[in-house]
Amino acid sequence: MHILHVVGARPNLMKVAPVLDALAAYPHVRQTLIHSGQHYDTNMSDVFFQQLRIPAPDVNLEVGSGSHARQTADIMTRFEPVVLERKPDMVLVYGDVNSTVAAALVCSKLRIPVGHVEAGLRSFDRTMPEEINRLLTDQLADILFTPSEDGDTNLAREGIAPGKVHRVGNVMIDSLIRLLPAAREKRQNGLPDNYVLVTLHRPANVDDDRVLKGILGCLLEVNSRAQVVFPVHPRTQQRIKDFGIDAGKLTLLEPQPYIEFLALQRRAKAVVTDSGGIQEETTYLNVPCLTLRDNTERPITVTMGTNILVGQDGAKLRAEFAKILEGKAKQGSIPPLWDGKAGERIAAILSRPSKS
Ligand code: UD1
Repeated sequence: MHILHVVGARPNLMKVAPVLDALAAYPHVRQTLIHSGQHYDTNMSDVFFQQLRIPAPDVNLEVGSGSHARQTADIMTRFEPVVLERKPDMVLVYGDVNSTVAAALVCSKLRIPVGHVEAGLRSFDRTMPEEINRLLTDQLADILFTPSEDGDTNLAREGIAPGKVHRVGNVMIDSLIRLLPAAREKRQNGLPDNYVLVTLHRPANVDDDRVLKGILGCLLEVNSRAQVVFPVHPRTQQRIKDFGIDAGKLTLLEPQPYIEFLALQRRAKAVVTDSGGIQEETTYLNVPCLTLRDNTERPITVTMGTNILVGQDGAKLRAEFAKILEGKAKQGSIPPLWDGKAGERIAAILSRPSKS
């Protein structure tokens, strides 16, 4: 059996690593890894391959950046001949990035079965490009692996046959559990006990100069009470420069490697973010998370975990942050099946002999 995996952007890499690993235990499974090249900077891609011990991709499509249409179309055009040549029995796609939907669309037209890892998540906000990618990928997929019960419910509502859906847990947490010991060994890097970790990259938060200035202004206030440590995504770096914003008082860092970022998260007093994956990681680590979005495709991090949605409401951010500093942070628990074995469950399902 030949399984071909497609990755493209940073958040795909923590998801593919445990699946590659778990499938390697099945001698009859051959695996191929394709990188679309959507993320191409060393610190957005290569360093994650090294730390997560992902083998070098068999093919890199080197699409790079572009508009959504251009990037998605480029991935499709370059990926199609690779699939035709490699003839996989199944293609696995991960998460909700442009590489995910592009590969799913190519394979479904070629009648190659598609498996979607991290299926069923919904923010119900179609202004987010990721939501479009999730909806379409799930419609196209032949087998869908969900991280939590809300995923199954969303898929059932959209008419996906329950027989195609497997609740396996959270693959991202598999990688976290594996590399947490390495993160614990990382030194404090001169940071105090009371720092707040920030990440920011969603177009809704960084592409409009008034919104970005508002958020950074609020973070400067937070910074006067606890040092703000902010690894800056390339998109955000560009916008800060374009809009001529002075964020120099914050502790600005380059995008961090996986283990270093995990080390920063686990020791943070609080995390302020608009990322999806970080909402999950903070829930697992029991670190308070204030999410700069009005909605989340990961509601379990709010209902069970440490996540609070503050949107772009500066007053709410300040109020929630004050509670954390007073020792009244929200307490959470770890959702079911976020146990480090999601990749193994996926591999066990995929490696079953087919009934046909
Ligand atoms: C993508 C995903 C998003 C995910 C995020 C994690 C989509 C629609 N979005 O957003 O879901 O949370 O990755 O990072 O797929 N750039 C670089 N170097 C790189 C990659 C990007 O400088 O290695 C810059 C380019 O200027 C590019 C911009 O960042 O135009 C945005 O990159 P892109 O891949 O289009 O989307 P992300 O914002 O990273």
